[in-house]
Amino acid sequence: MDNYAKAKGTAIEKIIRGQMQGELSGAGMYFALAHAAKELNLDDVARQFTELAGEHAAQASFYAEFCGRYPFEENEFWRFVKGLSKAEYFGEKAVSSLADTVKKAGFADAAETIKTFAAQHKHHGEATQRLTEKYAFETVKQNAEKRYVCGVCGYVYEGELADEPEDFTCPLCGMPKTVFKTAE
Ligand SMILES: [Fe+2]
Repeated sequence: MDNYAKAKGTAIEKIIRGQMQGELSGAGMYFALAHAAKELNLDDVARQFTELAGEHAAQASFYAEFCGRYPFEENEFWRFVKGLSKAEYFGEKAVSSLADTVKKAGFADAAETIKTFAAQHKHHGEATQRLTEKYAFETVKQNAEKRYVCGVCGYVYEGELADEPEDFTCPLCGMPKTVFKTAE
């Protein structure tokens, strides 16, 4: 954690964030190629590509740490995981509706697979919620009086959003403050 947020607010922050995104795409690409290789019965290729994907993801993690992309202070960490948990439940609904769209477009098989992804999002929501309940401080566990939900990814911000600087972005998807709506 020695490099944590060292690049934040400096001239190199943007370039580090760009590199992080690039490595994340690389990780996703190698995972997808590994999946394709498996379908082609090329198990050694699939194994190798899975390993490469893991290295890209690890590199992305370094850049994320360097530019302070995610919080590491304990309280902030759990506040983030709590908001993330809500976003996973939001994802469950969004992906489920994507499955319906895909089905209506005539791709029933793909829709079935996507339905299982919706179920995975629900599982992620439950897992992150359980961990928050296990480890977070009481102040984090209790719902704040004011809550806002990101209209793009479903991340839930707790507290007074108006007090955040104008350049505040969603901690999860990076969209600007303006996409947040008051949560019910
Ligand atoms: Fe978001």
